[in-house]
Amino acid sequence: MKLDRLLSVSDFERAAKKFLPRCVYGYVRGGTEDERSLRANRQAFDELGFLPRGLNVVDKRELSTELWGRRYAMPLGIAPTGLAGLLRHECDLDLARAAQQARVPFIISGSSSVPLEKLQEEDRDNWYQAYFPGDRARMSRILDRLRAAKIDVLVVTIDTCVAANRENNARMDFIIPFRMTPRLLLDGMLHPRWSVGVFLKTLYANGIPRFANLYEEIGPPITQEPAHGFRTGRDRLGWDDMVWLREQWKGRLVLKGVMHPLDAEKAEQIGADGIIVSNHGGRQLDGTIAPLAALPAIIDTVSERLPVMIDGGFRRGTDVLKAIALGAKLVFVGRATLYGAAVAGEAGARRVLSILATELDRDMALLGCASLSEVTAALLKTRAGAAFEAANYD
Ligand SMILES: Cc1cc2nc3c(=O)[nH]c(=O)nc-3n(C[C@H](O)[C@H](O)[C@H](O)COP(=O)(O)O)c2cc1C
Repeated sequence: MKLDRLLSVSDFERAAKKFLPRCVYGYVRGGTEDERSLRANRQAFDELGFLPRGLNVVDKRELSTELWGRRYAMPLGIAPTGLAGLLRHECDLDLARAAQQARVPFIISGSSSVPLEKLQEEDRDNWYQAYFPGDRARMSRILDRLRAAKIDVLVVTIDTCVAANRENNARMDFIIPFRMTPRLLLDGMLHPRWSVGVFLKTLYANGIPRFANLYEEIGPPITQEPAHGFRTGRDRLGWDDMVWLREQWKGRLVLKGVMHPLDAEKAEQIGADGIIVSNHGGRQLDGTIAPLAALPAIIDTVSERLPVMIDGGFRRGTDVLKAIALGAKLVFVGRATLYGAAVAGEAGARRVLSILATELDRDMALLGCASLSEVTAALLKTRAGAAFEAANYD
């Protein structure tokens, strides 16, 4: 595959769709139930338009941004995505390397399969996303593991207290614990490059993929239910646990999956260092508003000191600029880089990041801005009839 023939994130999605078995592509693309949240994420970008300025001198453009004293090359990062190893052999490593090369953050998923200690090699500044069980003794042991692996930024996902209703996965027999069925076998046979290059290669090199980073120990293969259950007790987790966690964890603490302004306020009160406004890419509660639509009210609620980040549906530089204009500090992409990695591993994920960087640079200039601080809500207009919150951007 000639990567320079793929010009946009959508091109990568089309190529990934061809390469991946239907069940794996469906797992990545899909949302839950009627996919209302998934659709809302993309539609929100159409409700906002730009009012660009002309004749601003924009020959010296600066895309880099600073967060907690670290400088990132652009306001973009790679969101945590579980089971990425089904798209590419050791896909987590490809994503971590691509992020490191592009000088952007990569969040290791709690449901990933390359051990986080290995992902941390070569001085990478990865963040770690936890799916904590509702059990403080176990949480303590996970924190010990993170400290030993020199993880500094801990991201706690708060939108996954119970398993989501992913009917599309169930229809294609794609369920965890994973079981081989005739339908899956046929799907694999129809995608021989994936079967040989990913499935068999992984089985041969590492055996059945494991939940390597969910708990304090390397977990069981994805064909087995973990001894303590896959999601045991997550619905017991509450704000008290976050207060406790804040006392235990001296590194940066970020809450991911914040949608309500009152939760954003609580996150700041318990001393979180940042939040990620997210509806899990439309993969948890169906029928939520888009994170982009939730952003203005959250920005209005928290103090300027709290970095507000966002993810959900970002596919273009212009999408990222809309979130920056509304006050986001950093934007994460989930599926975009996964499609890149599915097509060509690290090189594919790098190409996707570089396409987004080029778009961001060009679009910022076309908007009349030389730096991100100039990208403000004064350059946005809601489309006629759009139901966007805090819609007065004039
Ligand atoms: C295949 C896949 C797996 C995901 N796994 C996780 C996960 O393990 N933990 C988590 O917090 N979010 C997970 N997410 C959600 C992403 O972190 C992110 O919120 C979402 O993908 C952003 O939307 P986008 O894919 O449209 O960019 C996953 C998303 C996808 C597509």
